[in-house]
Amino acid sequence: MAPTASIRLGDKDYPLPVMVGTEGEKAVDVRKLRAETGYICYDQGYGNTGSCESAITYLDGDNGILRHRGIPIEQLAHKSDFVETAYLIIYGELPNAEKRKAFGMLLRQHAAIETQMQRIFEGYPTKAPPMAMLSSIVASLAAHYPDLATNNFEKDLASFELAAAITISKVRTIAAMIYRYQKGLPYVFPKQDLPFCDNFLHMMFTEPYKDYVAEPEVARALNMLLLLHADHEQNCSTATVRTVGSSAANLFTAVSAGICALSGPLHGGANSAVLQMLQSIYDEGDDGTRFIAAAKQGSKAGRLMGFGHAVYRNFDPRARIVGEACEDLLNKLGIKDPLLAIAKKLEEAALKDDYFLSRKLYPNVDFYSGIIMRALGIPVSMFTVIFAIGRTPGWIANWREVAANPKGRIYRPRQIYVGPVKRDYVLMADRP
Ligand code: ACO
Repeated sequence: MAPTASIRLGDKDYPLPVMVGTEGEKAVDVRKLRAETGYICYDQGYGNTGSCESAITYLDGDNGILRHRGIPIEQLAHKSDFVETAYLIIYGELPNAEKRKAFGMLLRQHAAIETQMQRIFEGYPTKAPPMAMLSSIVASLAAHYPDLATNNFEKDLASFELAAAITISKVRTIAAMIYRYQKGLPYVFPKQDLPFCDNFLHMMFTEPYKDYVAEPEVARALNMLLLLHADHEQNCSTATVRTVGSSAANLFTAVSAGICALSGPLHGGANSAVLQMLQSIYDEGDDGTRFIAAAKQGSKAGRLMGFGHAVYRNFDPRARIVGEACEDLLNKLGIKDPLLAIAKKLEEAALKDDYFLSRKLYPNVDFYSGIIMRALGIPVSMFTVIFAIGRTPGWIANWREVAANPKGRIYRPRQIYVGPVKRDYVLMADRP
C-alpha cells in the first residue's frame, strides 16, 4: 500500500499525498498546503525541496551514484564521448549512427561566430572576467537568432534542435575566442573536419603559421572532463536555467543565466580555487601538513578546496574517474607536475584523518580536474569557462523539460517576511 503523510497544525490533521520516483526517491507533495492551511514550507536554500520532476539525471549522494538517463557515469566516461553524452542527456537515448552523424553535422555547421557577433568582443576590456564575457555574449544569441528565441514555448520548441546545436557549438567557440581576445591573439576559426574537442583546442592554441593539432590523449582528456560536467541534477545553475525558462524565456537567455550562476566561487569557481591552493602550498614549501591542520580549524576561508560536497556524502563518483585520468594523462604526456604530488599527499592524509572522515568529506570532481586542465595548457582564468562548456547540455535538457511540460508553472517561491510591519511615510527631517 502506498504510504500516506499528513501534517498536524494545531488540533487538525491535513492529509498530504506522497510521491515516489522511479529510483524510489520519496517526497511529500505540499502543493496544496498553503491553499488549505495558510502555511508554507520554509526551506532556505531549497536543500530539502523538490522543485520539479525530471527524467534526466539520477543522483544518490549517500551512495556516490550518478546516472544520466539511467546510464552510470562510469560507463559513459569510459565508453562514450562528450557529444554523444550531450545527445543522450538532451534527447533521452543514445543516438544511432545516423542520428549521431546528423547531430555532429549540426554542431559543425554552427560552430563559427558571424562577423557581426565578433564585434561584440571588441566592446570588452581585455582584462574582463571570462565568465562575464561568456554569459553576456551567449545572451546576445537571442538577439542574433530572434526566430529561434521568440519567448514562446511552442515556437521555440519547434526550432529546438537547431537552437540546442547552436548553443553547444557556439559556447565552445565563444570560449576559445575569449581566450584569444584576452591574450591579444587573432581569432582562429573552427575547422569543419575536426571533432568537437579537437576543434576547441585548435581554436585555442593555434599559433601563426602553426596549426595546433591535439594529441589523441589530450583531446580524450578534454572530452572526459566535459562529459563529467555535462549534467548534475538540480544544482545552482541548472535550477537557475529552469527558473528563467519557466517564465517562457528562450533557450539562449536561460543558458546565459545558468552561466551567471555558475560563475560564483561556491559553484563553478572551486576548480580554480583548488589549483590556487595547491600552488600556494608549493610556493610555501609545505607538503600539505600545515594546510590540513589549518583546514581543520573550521574557517571557511581555510577550507581544503576540492573536498566535501553539498550532496555526495560518501564519494563523488566523478572524482575517482578524474583522479585516475589525471595520473594517466600526465604519465602519457611525460609531465611531472609537483602539484599532482601535493594533491595526492593531501588526499592520502585527509582520508586518514578523523576530522574529514567524521564529516564525510571526500575529494570532489574539482580536486583533480584543475591539474588536468593545467596539463592541457588551459589557464586558471578559463577553468570555469571549461566547466560551462561541459554543463551546457544539462542546461539545455532542463530548459527543454520545462518548456515541454504542459502542466508547468512559473517558478515562484514564497518567503517569510521579517521586515518592518506597516508604517506611515514620513519625510526625513533633513529633506526640504
Ligand atoms: N575543508 C575543511 N572542512 C570542511 C570542508 C573542507 N573542504 N568542507 C566542509 N567542512 C567542514 C565544515 O567546516 C563543517 O564542519 P563543522 O561540522 O565542524 O562545522 C562540516 O565540514 C560540514 O560543512 P558544511 O559547510 O555544512 O558542508 P556543506 O555540505 O554545506 O558544504 C561544500 C559543501 C560547500 C562543497 C564544502 O564542503 C566546501 O566548501 N568545500 C570546498 C569547496 C569545494 O570544493 N567546492 C566544490 C564543490 S563541487 C562543485 O561545485 C562542482
